[in-house]
Amino acid sequence: MAHPLEQLGDEALREIQSAGDEQMLEAARVKYLGRSGSVSNWGEQMKTLPKEEKPIVGKLLNEVRTAVTNALESRAHQFRTQKESASLGKIDISLPGTPHEIGAIHPLTQMWERAIEIFRRMGFALADGPDIEDEWHCFDALNTPPEHPARSEKDTFYLPDGRLLRTHTSTVQIRTMQSTPPPLRVIAPGAAYRNEEIDATHAAQFHQIEGLYVDEDVSVADLKGTLEFFMRELFGRETEVQFRPHFFPFTEPSLEVYVKSKALKGGEKWIEVCGSGVVHPAVFEQVNKARGDKAYDPEKWSGFAFGLGMDRLAMILFDIPDLRLFAQNDLRFLRQFA
Ligand code: DAH
Repeated sequence: MAHPLEQLGDEALREIQSAGDEQMLEAARVKYLGRSGSVSNWGEQMKTLPKEEKPIVGKLLNEVRTAVTNALESRAHQFRTQKESASLGKIDISLPGTPHEIGAIHPLTQMWERAIEIFRRMGFALADGPDIEDEWHCFDALNTPPEHPARSEKDTFYLPDGRLLRTHTSTVQIRTMQSTPPPLRVIAPGAAYRNEEIDATHAAQFHQIEGLYVDEDVSVADLKGTLEFFMRELFGRETEVQFRPHFFPFTEPSLEVYVKSKALKGGEKWIEVCGSGVVHPAVFEQVNKARGDKAYDPEKWSGFAFGLGMDRLAMILFDIPDLRLFAQNDLRFLRQFA
């Protein structure tokens, strides 16, 4: 006949195996291995046993305790894995994943970054000015008289209070000279607005990079060298640059800049990309008047300025046929530049 300890062990193992949940398992642990549990009690009883039985019963007791402990642990492990797979069961791993789309830089912004980087290398700092301007900064200070056609309602968006949306970034020339004495070397990228009939090459909002360089003895040669370098860095070494006489109220002489490059689509054509010129002394005088000093003395200082059409440059560089694509947010278009 089995020893009562063996019977107790079997009973304990059966009970552990049939424990339906963690509470029942814990009750079984207390019942057998707890401080006054029946297996533990056998340890006490050992003391009363005759000497020769002690080693046999002691060995048996150890075996039973180990078996019960292991059974408790493995049943607890079963409960844990059951719980885990129950919660995993709610996840359908056959569902498609959730993609995390990473955006890309807009082609116009890419264009700006390239242009700014080239001017930075030539020592130009960034300048800024507001999109909503007054007539003085947009026209008067730039030597543009009241009767000039650009000032009409037809071409300019006026606000009810008489202010306007700047028609060019040349306003930043004035603002920068008002706040900073010469010498000066700045570029100002930004938006400009005109009341245009919108088509593939005209928009009511477009983008320019204005440039202004004021120092002693600045000449047309500096202007030409700077813009030629810029165009070749942007469009490739083989790019040809041409300067044609033009008229702007705020420069004298004034030049329009054309480029031609075999690297570009339609590379046999001259394309106009920029207005430029030597800063008109009347502009310096206007700035002095506003500053209340003679900081921009036209006898001492001279300078050149330019305004690059950024949308135009991006259209040429990326071979984009229609200006409106820049603002339509069509991912099929934008993805091509990612
Ligand atoms: N502001 C002119 C325009 O929007 C472009 C321009 C011409 C800017 C000559 C200049 C310049 O700085 O010197 O058409």
